Order: sequence, then C-alpha cells, then structure tokens
Amino acid sequence: MTDADLRIVHITDIHFWHIVWNPFRLLNKRLLGNLNVALRRHREFVISQAQNYVEVISDLGASAVLITGDLTSTALDEEFSMAHDFLLSLREKGMQIWVLPGNHDVYTFESCRKKRFETYLKDFIPPEGYPTTISMNGEKPLLLIPTAKPNILSARGFVQPSTITWVAEQMTSLNKEPILAAAHYPLLPNTSTYHSAPSHRLRNADKLRKALAQSGKRVLYISGHVHRFSFTRDDNYPNLAHLSTGAFLRHDPDKGTEGEFSEIIFNENEVHVRRHVCKASHLWTTEEVKSFCDPGVQINGCINISPP
Ligand SMILES: [Fe+2]
Ligand SMILES: [Fe+2]
Repeated sequence: MTDADLRIVHITDIHFWHIVWNPFRLLNKRLLGNLNVALRRHREFVISQAQNYVEVISDLGASAVLITGDLTSTALDEEFSMAHDFLLSLREKGMQIWVLPGNHDVYTFESCRKKRFETYLKDFIPPEGYPTTISMNGEKPLLLIPTAKPNILSARGFVQPSTITWVAEQMTSLNKEPILAAAHYPLLPNTSTYHSAPSHRLRNADKLRKALAQSGKRVLYISGHVHRFSFTRDDNYPNLAHLSTGAFLRHDPDKGTEGEFSEIIFNENEVHVRRHVCKASHLWTTEEVKSFCDPGVQINGCINISPP
C-alpha cells in the first residue's frame, strides 16, 4: 500500500448517553431506553473516551470517517449535542464526515417529529438527504442508504421500496468498482460472530441484498447495529462482502476491550479492512488484516470477491 491509497475509518454505535430524571420526558418509549441506560449502558459505553479516540483516528491519516448510526441512546437533545461536538472534533482534524442515522437516533416518534438528527447534525449530513451516492476522492462511489425508523417497541429497520429501486439503478449505472454501500443494519441475520433476533433485524434485508448484488459488480456493504465485528463473503452472492464494525466505545470486561473501529483502505485492485481494538491497557492493536480483491488475485487473508 502507498500513501496515495484512499483510507477511511468506519465507526458506529457510539451511543452517547444521558440519563433523564424528569418524568415528563419519559412519557414514551424513552422510559424503557432510559432504564436501560441507567442500569446497563452507562457502564457499557465509556463516552468519556470519545475525544481520546479522535486522536487515535487522526493519527492514522485517514481522509474521511464514515459513521453508520446510533450516535445516541434515546435521541435526546443532550446526546445529539455530544454527537455534534464529537463529529466537529473529527472534522477539525481535517477529515471528511459521512454519517447515517441508526434506530437509536430516531428512538421515539417525538424525536423524529422534532427532526433532532437532522437539526443537530445538519452540518454533517448530505445536503440532498438520503439515499445518496458520495464520490470518495472524486471517483470511488459510496452509497449512503437509510434503514432506520422509529418503532413502538421493537428495533426493526426498513428500507423504503423507492430506495431499493434507487440502489438497483445506482448499481447498474456506476462504472467504478469496488462499490461501497453503507447503512445502519446488517443484511445478514447471523454470522460467526453475531446472531440478530428477528425483532432487531432489517425487515426487507433480502431485497436490498439482491439489489446490491444482482449487477455482479463487487460491493463492500458496511454496517453497524449488532455491536460486533464481522467480515464475511455472502454465501449467495460471491461479489458481495459484508463488514460490520463493533460499537465504538463498548467496554467488554470479558474480552478486556474498550472499543473499536475499522479502517478501510483502497488501492488499485483491493479493499483492505483492518480492525482496530482498544485493549484495557489503553493500547490499540490491529487484530487482523483482510482484503477483498479482483478475481484471480491471491493474497493471504483475502476474501476473493468474484462475479457470480
Ligand atoms: Fe447500536
Ligand atoms: Fe442500532
């Protein structure tokens, strides 16, 4: 790899949290979410580390940061304010920001009605809205696909049929490969590192999966939501690879880890994916390096993506 390679960082599921004590602010689904934050998430997501991790990301020399949603826990003003300041810190380090909402960013119907995500993060979301195609470095395409919606109780996602049609059209018309596509929800319900309950899945994932893959072009689909790292080739569509990155600030006492992010590096023929993990000693390690590459190219640790 050379210095000229395009390098982006993928972070997801930051889950900035704020505990609410005012009962009038708890007259909706937030009652449950707030309880979850007070009992569990405030220990699980170490938000005091966020600014330290900005320095780590900045030192990699990435040109952009992709954030696939769940910046907040219950879509509160206070949480969005923290998310805004965090994104601003990344931008002030010279990195471009591409951001999508997750289900926690549209946690209540009230937060959607008040357009909190759009209001607080207006300086970072594409002016044309979602879905949209970003041209990375002026040439490599990145599709930003909206999948999050508010629910009464579940954590299900949904892709609008018009968005699926748009994705299929983009896949036909784009002539650069590989194509990156980003969304909050993964398309695979299970991999070797996670199992997603039906109440937490993207409802029409298979339609989006087909729309992305049927052109035969090589696609790296990037998501979050499951809070676990996974990088795998699609069993049904060998031209499609799936990356999900673990939660950015998640403290896992069993594994002795305190957060993670992925680094995605393009060069001529390949896309490399690196997983960066913070160990309890506050040392960052690069646990693995994998790549997907042109058919016929053989590299150690390579997921070979080929036309179906
Ligand atoms: Fe999440
Ligand atoms: Fe989520």
